[in-house]
Amino acid sequence: MKVLVIGGGGREHALVWALRKCKRVDKVYCCPGNAGIAGLAECINNTDPYNIKALVDLVKCEWIDLTIVGPEVPLGLGIVDLFEREGLKIFGPNQKAAALETSKVFAKDFMRRHGLPTSRYKVFSSYPEAEDYIHLMGAPIVIKADGLAAGKGVIVAPTYEEAEGALRLIMIDRAFGDAGNRVIIEECLTGEEVSFMVVTDGKTIVPIPTSQDHKRVFDNDKGPNTGGMGAYSPAPLVDGALQDTIMETIMRPTISLLAKDGIKYKGVLYAGLMINEGRPYVLEYNCRLGDPEAQAILMRLDSDIVDICLSVHDGTLDAAAIQWKPEAAVAVVIAAGGYPGAFQRGKEITGLEAITPSDEVVVFHSGTAFDNDALVTASGRVLTVAALGEDIAAAKDNAYKAAAKIHFDDMHYRKDIAARALR
Ligand code: AMP
Ligand code: GLY
Repeated sequence: MKVLVIGGGGREHALVWALRKCKRVDKVYCCPGNAGIAGLAECINNTDPYNIKALVDLVKCEWIDLTIVGPEVPLGLGIVDLFEREGLKIFGPNQKAAALETSKVFAKDFMRRHGLPTSRYKVFSSYPEAEDYIHLMGAPIVIKADGLAAGKGVIVAPTYEEAEGALRLIMIDRAFGDAGNRVIIEECLTGEEVSFMVVTDGKTIVPIPTSQDHKRVFDNDKGPNTGGMGAYSPAPLVDGALQDTIMETIMRPTISLLAKDGIKYKGVLYAGLMINEGRPYVLEYNCRLGDPEAQAILMRLDSDIVDICLSVHDGTLDAAAIQWKPEAAVAVVIAAGGYPGAFQRGKEITGLEAITPSDEVVVFHSGTAFDNDALVTASGRVLTVAALGEDIAAAKDNAYKAAAKIHFDDMHYRKDIAARALR
């Protein structure tokens, strides 16, 4: 069969890599893909991955059997609804279900209405009223743009001045455009964050191994938030009892309460959780696999990914036995200097040939391109070095040994990915 992956980052490279291990997959396409993905799939560069009608045409023209959506934007545009109307198989939630990620106001109101554990908040569409509220509440406080903002629309403000600056950025400077028409101002939670994902066909809900992301750009969680600088799986913080609590108080109710509201959720549901004194609180939902969590987690997948996606589509996930490798995985993101602020593209990448390709260590490309024959950087997050090991310490060691072989000018990566799990 032929499978299309939409997206062009490290998560999509990991999806393509997992698909290439499936016996019944003959050909993989990726739109737009990147230079690393090009070694495993046909990259489609002449179709806009956000033009969902053009993607329908592509799938029909190439007789593609299944489409897997990596990022949130096409889900928010309703790609699943359109594909389903056209009778095409696709993996991901529909537009209404994806609103859990595409509208933070929708997600918070849903949680409040149903009593799901999350921080207290208020929604504003007027700047003076929002400003009065932060004045009243004081800092620390969290300011969030309602809509999608490529991971930059959340500002955790330690002081009143920073909260006001965040509010101005979103509501007056309109840094995120219409995504900032409404803001959420919420109580700042403390504790430790984990990423908890499930895969569901709307009836059966299967937990995916736990993981932890590293949001801040510098070691020891310093500097601004990024899309994610590294991940590891499993997250030792989540023991069996906590996993049960998360499933019973958050994941199952989210999916069944959505169904009660007339919204069937199919695909991967991701909850970003804050664990405070052993209790989980939802910081945010995502309607897809996390990046870089996916790179760590897919290293551990020991089942056929296409079978899982098809069983979600067919509503037969109850019959699927999803196996995971017992090894731990660590994924280290190598970024361009300056990221998540301004950075340069086009720097030549060397050293990848010194890393022997294996199932134990894989360099997923997050943002690369070819400049003639040279492999060059093409975005802020450039590569994700993912490795397995018998435990987190061994996986970490394997990932960093490989990362040390890679070079490009001004490259930067955190040296403490997974250190938290080893304390
Ligand atoms: P994202 O929405 O993925 O860009 O990430 C937002 C990040 O902001 C989370 O991963 C947390 O680190 C932080 N965050 C969001 N909401 C809160 C909150 N209520 N309290 C403390 N930190 C938060
Ligand atoms: N790593 C967090 C995310 O994918 O949103």
